[in-house]
Amino acid sequence: MQVFCRDFKYCAKNSAIVRIALLRTCGGGSAITVFSRMSETTSEFQVCIAGTGSYVPEKVLTNEELSKRVDTSDEWIVSRTGIRERRIAAAGEFTSHMATHAARKALEQAGIEAKDVQLIIVATITPDTPTPATACYVQQNLGSMGAVAFDISAACSGFLYAMKIAKRLISSGAFENALIIGAEKLSAVTNWEDRATCVLFGDGAGAAVLRRAEPQEGSILATEMGSDGNLTHLLNIPGGGTACPITSDNVNDHLFTLNMLGKEVFKHAVNRMKEAAEKVIERAGLQAKDIACVIPHQANLRIIDAIADRLLVPNDRVFVNLDKYGNTSAAAVAIALDEANRSGAFKRGDNIVLVVFGAGLTWAAAAVRW
Ligand code: UT7
Repeated sequence: MQVFCRDFKYCAKNSAIVRIALLRTCGGGSAITVFSRMSETTSEFQVCIAGTGSYVPEKVLTNEELSKRVDTSDEWIVSRTGIRERRIAAAGEFTSHMATHAARKALEQAGIEAKDVQLIIVATITPDTPTPATACYVQQNLGSMGAVAFDISAACSGFLYAMKIAKRLISSGAFENALIIGAEKLSAVTNWEDRATCVLFGDGAGAAVLRRAEPQEGSILATEMGSDGNLTHLLNIPGGGTACPITSDNVNDHLFTLNMLGKEVFKHAVNRMKEAAEKVIERAGLQAKDIACVIPHQANLRIIDAIADRLLVPNDRVFVNLDKYGNTSAAAVAIALDEANRSGAFKRGDNIVLVVFGAGLTWAAAAVRW
């Protein structure tokens, strides 16, 4: 019988990382056998968040001002969403500029020089250009020329997707540190004539530096992420890609701005965020009483309250800043993490839980010991 090796995979077995060869026989069947043992103990590095940073543009757009543009009111926006104002980037201020500002602050807090950054991941749905990646512009701005830089597109969940990817790449030993950034210029993809969406979104950026943790330091305890591609129709920008390129005929059809079936998204957001948060809390060996701070996606105060209720975490341990910034998609949880960190909402040794939800649909969560 002819047998050849098709692929390798790695798995944990009795606290050891085991390399497994996937074998295929000439008859076409597959078999799995233990090929070689890499080490007698798990060789994963613990990964900590060494610094955070954020940036929001100077210009404030209040509910009052919006109510002069579309048929809405401060009362409706505050009671249905909790949002009071949002920030709007200047015409010449791009996603990469905001990302760079946030990144510099995170690097400063982490005590890591830009030239020593090894990996840059930018989570965004509003890149400076379709290609190259916004992360490459950030790399250039920072002068992190030794880094690998790329973007990910997971909408509001992107920052925690980036956290999981970076955590894995550091814990495996491939990189020693990573700069992860959530940055958006949503004002560029907002339909300013649609009151159902234009009151919700804003611009900004948040960043975190991840690196190998020292033994006495906190670490990222557990991460979770998921997607449901059956629900792409609930929240999207239909045009601007290969399915519907921009042409002179459709340029004014509002195909290049955010569309959302808000009520449906609301329902899924509550359920998915609750499930994702519960998974990381359980995997981290925690209970609700052990959590010093929950940092949720900042889309709607009613969603945040519903999640806090379901997780049995009191409201005073849930961080909220959407009243100031609205929904900044991938940037929202990253800005909230930085503001919570710098305002002393938690301290070294505390357990925190981050949880997000967005277009895709996508969702993610992380439990972190600070
Ligand atoms: O970041 C990604 C995840 N996104 C989310 O999680 C967002 C989830 N969804 C939501 O936050 C909420 O569904 C919204 C805030 C978007 C909307 O709140 P809602 O309570 O679901 O309102 P609705 O869409 O059912 O609209 C209720 C009413 C409608 O009027 P009628 O049909 O009852 O007469 C709307 O036309 O409110 C009207 N309306 C407004 N009125 C004043 C919708 N937008 C506005 C507005 N001002 N800006």
